[in-house]
Amino acid sequence: MLFAIIENSNNKPILNEPFGQTKEGKSVEIYTLENSCGMKARITNYGGIVVSLTAPDKNGNMADVALGCDNLNGYIESSPYFGCIVGRYGNRIGNAKFTLNGQEYILAKNDGENNLHGGDVGFNKAIWEAKPVDENLEGPALELTYLSKDGEEGFPGNLNVKVIYTLTHKNELKIDYFAATDKDTVVNLTHHSYFNLAGQGEGDVLGHEATINADKFTPVDEGSIPTGEIRDVEGTPFDFRTAKTFGKDVNADDEQLKFVGGYDHNWVLNQEEPGKMVLATSAYEPNTGRYMEAYTTEPAIQVYIGNFLDGTITGKEGKVYKRRYGFCMEPQHYPDTPNKPDFPSCVLKPGKEYKTTTIYKFSTK
Ligand code: GLA
Repeated sequence: MLFAIIENSNNKPILNEPFGQTKEGKSVEIYTLENSCGMKARITNYGGIVVSLTAPDKNGNMADVALGCDNLNGYIESSPYFGCIVGRYGNRIGNAKFTLNGQEYILAKNDGENNLHGGDVGFNKAIWEAKPVDENLEGPALELTYLSKDGEEGFPGNLNVKVIYTLTHKNELKIDYFAATDKDTVVNLTHHSYFNLAGQGEGDVLGHEATINADKFTPVDEGSIPTGEIRDVEGTPFDFRTAKTFGKDVNADDEQLKFVGGYDHNWVLNQEEPGKMVLATSAYEPNTGRYMEAYTTEPAIQVYIGNFLDGTITGKEGKVYKRRYGFCMEPQHYPDTPNKPDFPSCVLKPGKEYKTTTIYKFSTK
């Protein structure tokens, strides 16, 4: 079915189709957003997952640049967070516990001893309420809302979450995150698309040239938990202030790379002031000319180059996803912030609105 045509004539109506049923028998939908340049984003209300995202190459040819699964079952059974909304706390919380206002909260240990991406049933597995946003001048937009109940996955407070995906007419996938709570809680929402600018399934991403606008990063222990140190990138394989390929230094003799099998770290963004949007990262694929920039209001970004992909997942169009076939650029607060009082706070209090924005902008060079 088609939703009613919206006021702004630049926007094509959002197509809404069934995407299958969960094991519990709940129906899930998929929504197709198309902008005036022909770029398409297909988004399901299961996990708020971007199932596919097309972008033009230097000759105007569109390709799907996001890894994913062919059907809902793939996302339910075997997805390593492809394209989803991550929450309530994206990234890791050490020892799967934290203390807030003197009370200890125990979380699921779903990543060794640690909590990862919100626990066993994070926001990536939630069924969100979806509706198109009317009269959005920037481009077609889909609003997703979810109530994460007090105590869900061990986190305190009823958290009302809203995420708006806009596919702008400037070839941007814009993501606005909002949340409000009725009790002090911790929140860290992010997006987990695995991009490959050559096209999904078209080889590894080591030849992509990347930049990361960060003088510093947060080194981790062998369990991927920040040690608390904030280290200069200068003179390390983590210096992406000038463009270099992901492959250039990824095999350097460096303890940080060995601990986690490659780039899978949190960089501290060079930001003029907290909450002010900056160009965080970019990636360029020389053969197709596709260029992606990520802008965010968040203080940091996790850049992960798919080190854990191992060829056991067959994704869309029968493509087998091998090691490093996709990269994630996940704007967020620092990992393990609930246990690191010196990191920028991720505490949300009643009466305060959580609001962050991330934009993935596609062009060619
Ligand atoms: C994040 C983490 C990685 C990995 C992936 C999911 O990006 O930083 O270590 O857990 O999610 O596979």
